[in-house]
Amino acid sequence: MDVKVKILRYNPEVLDEAEWKTYSVTLQPTDRVLDALHKIKWEQDGTLTFRRSCAHGVCGSDAMRINGRNRLACKTLIKDLNPGKEITVEPIKGLTVLKDLVVDMDPFFEAYRAVMPFLVTSGHEPTRERIQSQADRDRFDDTTKCILCAACTTSCPVFWSDGQYFGPQAIVGAHRFIFDSRDEGTEQRLEILNDKEGVWRCRTTFNCTDACPRGIEVTKAIQEVKRALIFRRV
Ligand code: SF4
Ligand code: FES
Repeated sequence: MDVKVKILRYNPEVLDEAEWKTYSVTLQPTDRVLDALHKIKWEQDGTLTFRRSCAHGVCGSDAMRINGRNRLACKTLIKDLNPGKEITVEPIKGLTVLKDLVVDMDPFFEAYRAVMPFLVTSGHEPTRERIQSQADRDRFDDTTKCILCAACTTSCPVFWSDGQYFGPQAIVGAHRFIFDSRDEGTEQRLEILNDKEGVWRCRTTFNCTDACPRGIEVTKAIQEVKRALIFRRV
């Protein structure tokens, strides 16, 4: 089938503003948007620029706005996009576009690093693994699934209006350790997220939950961190 793919193109060395370009591509219904982008790049216009790596929904590098919604190009099938109509592809919003579909991810990763996304412990190195019950492990299972794709953070209207907000992903990254019974950095992380740019900026719009390609209940995780802050009991 012939499919029209309309891509928001931008090259700061050539253009002052982004502009839409439409490509006609022959695809199978079971092809993915990433296949369409590859065909365009390899067969029609080698200057088209986008990130991708694993092509299987694991690395998180190809989040983009497809038909107005944040998705991973490698997990989005053409047949699920009403291919009789033009398919639109844009960069994710709220981060500076460097070229075509590539955005500057630095602010996103800075927010992630700021919440200390690692195990904090004290005392001597253990001589055996740190034991945890299944129930304790289940407590943060959902937020371990994050692949750092930024689909949640860049679908958030608060993040669009003010890039200082930590954003949903950073809160998911903090949640993963705040509710880990082996961790001792909870107070520090909660204090970081109690900041004016922290969890209280969330307006519970659920865009983040809808956008997450891993099915993480992002809004629920944010609510749990808010509750932990209120009760300081996790
Ligand atoms: S929480 Fe989901 S949408 Fe957000 S960065 Fe992680 S995997 Fe991507
Ligand atoms: S290319 Fe790795 S998640 Fe899509």
